[in-house]
Amino acid sequence: MARTQEALYRDIDLELSWSERDLPERERTKHVHRLHPYLGKFVPQLVEALLGRYVRCGGRVLDPFSGSGTTLVQALETGRPATGVDVAAFNCLLMRVKTARYNLFTLEREVRDAVARLERFDGAAPSEAPPYVASWFAPRAAAELLFFRGLCDEYEHAEVLRVVLGRAARSARLTTHFDLDFPRTPQLDEYWCHKHRRICRPVERASHFLHRYALDTVERLKAFARVRAGRAEATVLHGDARVVDLDGPYAGVVTSPPYPGLIDYHEQHRYAYELLGLDDRRELELGTAASGTGKAALEAYVRGIAAVLSRVRDTVEPGSPVVVVVNDRRSLYPDILARAGLRLDARLRRHVNRRTGRRAGEFFEDILVARAG
Ligand SMILES: C[S@@+](CC[C@H](N)C(=O)[O-])C[C@H]1O[C@@H](n2cnc3c(N)ncnc32)[C@H](O)[C@@H]1O
Repeated sequence: MARTQEALYRDIDLELSWSERDLPERERTKHVHRLHPYLGKFVPQLVEALLGRYVRCGGRVLDPFSGSGTTLVQALETGRPATGVDVAAFNCLLMRVKTARYNLFTLEREVRDAVARLERFDGAAPSEAPPYVASWFAPRAAAELLFFRGLCDEYEHAEVLRVVLGRAARSARLTTHFDLDFPRTPQLDEYWCHKHRRICRPVERASHFLHRYALDTVERLKAFARVRAGRAEATVLHGDARVVDLDGPYAGVVTSPPYPGLIDYHEQHRYAYELLGLDDRRELELGTAASGTGKAALEAYVRGIAAVLSRVRDTVEPGSPVVVVVNDRRSLYPDILARAGLRLDARLRRHVNRRTGRRAGEFFEDILVARAG
């Protein structure tokens, strides 16, 4: 029999569960949180609440699976220095760009200059396009993206322009509008669009995306500069969290590890790796969809996450909280925490609001508050 609403709500931490009305998309993607879309991202307000509850003011924060850097950004917003580790180079680029300090005047001048040069681009086809670019973009879009890529290196804020390039490339791929997350093959012809309920055509140009995202990025970086508190800075470590020097001690950890068999983070941003020539370390990524969810894959996942958390345990100040956000439907985390030498202090549940579309439906997340012991 279905549980009553009341029984269900007794188990859920309502302070950490928001409806679409309480927390509209605009708030969830405030300032730098929307420099580039990212699957499996924390809701910033969740991190803010967890930092407020568990990590003392000014205490250093670690996220060993920091992804798009939500923990770092929220730590800086609340005046806490933070370190993020990620094995995926694109994620590290995104984190550096989100958390760096800028001379906003120079930044805006450079970005506007790059956009103006793009507007003057005559659309000449490049002498050679890498195979991925040639097959996933219409010819004119590929030429514009490659032209913009050539501009990036000429500016002090090259990394900001590279993030703009990545975001524009994501939007300009030859995909259907409803399959931007996991496109399988380039969409060459017009198609019936489930999202817009009409016939849509694949994108032919990239310049309008580059233009729009360039200006949006400057506005978002400015907005974050206005709200980041005090002098706290972020450090981004690119590497495998099982072996990288974690550079402790820390007053607390807030993290969400990859879930087994769900998302391949390198593959998610393939366009950026191909266009920017980033270092691809996918063989070190834990819990990939490519490795599946068979017995051996789950055992490797448990070993890998436990290895990271055991190093985390050694680097936090004694008694500090290690807060892990998971959707542990396979009940792997009791074993992972035990192997890592962490004791579970509290297990909170939150209701995850899944807007509309193909991933709609009830969904819950666990927040495991563990400590060394
Ligand atoms: C669920 S995502 C984290 C999302 C993050 N909380 C956010 O808000 O953006 C998990 C991250 O773990 C990273 N990862 C996977 N294996 C790793 C490893 N061996 N070392 C460090 N990071 C790893 C992935 O690249 C991915 O970005």
